[in-house]
Amino acid sequence: MTPYFLCNNDDLIDNKTRSFTLETEQGQLDLLLVKTENVAYAYKNICPHLGIPLNWQPDEFLSIEETHIQCSTHGALFTMENGHCIAGPCSGDKLENLALEYRDNEIWLQL
Ligand code: FES
Repeated sequence: MTPYFLCNNDDLIDNKTRSFTLETEQGQLDLLLVKTENVAYAYKNICPHLGIPLNWQPDEFLSIEETHIQCSTHGALFTMENGHCIAGPCSGDKLENLALEYRDNEIWLQL
């Protein structure tokens, strides 16, 4: 596994998201980081409906109520905790989860 530093835990606010683009050994990886109830989750920035990015602006992935990740194209809603699609054209599908590791105050991605 190869670790990639993402950000400091303090820099990530509850019920907010951040987008990242990493150059990995497998090529470019676009992902989002979301934090809720002080736990961070990472997903590939790919909507399972059409295989396109979820967001239309950097760091903006949440529904207006800030309760779910929302695809900006057709409005599919995904839970923050496991990426399951609960409404929309890809209902029952899910975002691809990525493994995270905490090192003191730092959040690292493990690929
Ligand atoms: S592309 Fe995401 S819901 Fe259609």
